[in-house]
Amino acid sequence: MTIIAGNWKMNHDSESCLSFLNEFESYGKIPKNVEAVIFPTFLSLNAFLKKTSYIDIGAQNGHWKKNGAFTGEVSIFDLKKMNINWLLVGHSERRHIFGEESSILKKKVEVSLSLGMKTVYCVGETIDQKKDGKTENVLRGQVNSIKEFLDDENLIIAYEPVWAIGSGMPAGAEDADKASSFCKDFCKRNIPILYGGSVNSENISNYLKSGMIDGFLIGGASLKPRSFRNLIDAV
Ligand code: PGA
Repeated sequence: MTIIAGNWKMNHDSESCLSFLNEFESYGKIPKNVEAVIFPTFLSLNAFLKKTSYIDIGAQNGHWKKNGAFTGEVSIFDLKKMNINWLLVGHSERRHIFGEESSILKKKVEVSLSLGMKTVYCVGETIDQKKDGKTENVLRGQVNSIKEFLDDENLIIAYEPVWAIGSGMPAGAEDADKASSFCKDFCKRNIPILYGGSVNSENISNYLKSGMIDGFLIGGASLKPRSFRNLIDAV
């Protein structure tokens, strides 16, 4: 089973979600070897839930408390109650733009897994860390910070080098394999590893050759129905 996950970031409103779904569904059933999931904005979750059982739906973020004085936040508990069964945690934009640190990400992972949600924990090095040869150290730190949860079968790790995201400069398949093998070894099991960072329908199959990558987290190329479907067809 290959996971194809679309991270829509702050794109598409409820209306454009519906036209995406209409067109996407016209391309027919998703092949059985693919698990497709889309992470739309919070405001579009409802539009998806009402319209489709066709694609899994996830939230891009969530707060670990049930409720309280946390202006602007959305509780993971409420998301789960809405029937959202996937959560992204620690995307590079959350870490680097919004300053989310390991201690916070750990709480999100803990709550999400405790609710039985498929939890996609993102890791990856910056370009400077890569140039300094620190990729493995960075991954070790990021994965180690959730070490209590590495056995959970709903945990998925997404390796997304920060420099590859939205840059048109994807990591080479060898680098993705190396990161995957590091994470699988660290977890002492065949934990699903996604690769993300400038994936498109032309380069996606390069990452599948070695069998080390179990799926993809895709931004830009997941936004149009034809392009999202091409990614699915390419695997
Ligand atoms: P990209 O984004 O595919 O546009 O590089 C990936 C991501 O941010 O998850």
